Amino acid sequence: MLNELKHQPIFLVGFMGSGKTHWGRQWAGYLHRKFIDLDQLIESIEQLQVGQIFEKNGETWFREKEAITLRSVIDENNILVACGGGTPCFHDNMDFMNETGFTIFLDAAPKFLLANIMRDSFERPLLKNMSEAEMLFFIEKKLVERNVFYSQAKLTMNAEELNEESIKKL
Ligand code: S3P
Repeated sequence: MLNELKHQPIFLVGFMGSGKTHWGRQWAGYLHRKFIDLDQLIESIEQLQVGQIFEKNGETWFREKEAITLRSVIDENNILVACGGGTPCFHDNMDFMNETGFTIFLDAAPKFLLANIMRDSFERPLLKNMSEAEMLFFIEKKLVERNVFYSQAKLTMNAEELNEESIKKL
């Protein structure tokens, strides 16, 4: 099915820890698309890590930069973009992605997200200095807010069931 999208961009959305970067990179390879990780692109433009950008300029600045960067990537054809967890929830980004491309929501339960987040080594500014219990509470609360945006994706997939075979079937 994804092969039929021609050159339309594909956008992966979902909460932190849902596997957007991991699966996105594999998917892009399988579909012969260029893989773009939005956070990594912002980091390379700013020459700072996302955590440092939050510290230096604040979240509002980061969200503006994120929206601008998102709009700039679609100049390229045949891309698969892994968004940041908050991307769809600011600056009408979800509408923009739905208008210009094909959106896929990687859906997962809070405990699955937490386990993945704990396994990652990179810093997530929104979760800084939180205990495991606080993180779980935060994820549960934020998911309720964010599902309003995530659920507007054209396709929802269960992130907990993704594997190398299942992504090839799309
Ligand atoms: C964020 C998620 C992060 C990154 C930033 C904010 C969020 O991306 O964009 O730390 O608001 O959920 P990942 O989902 O790739 O961790």
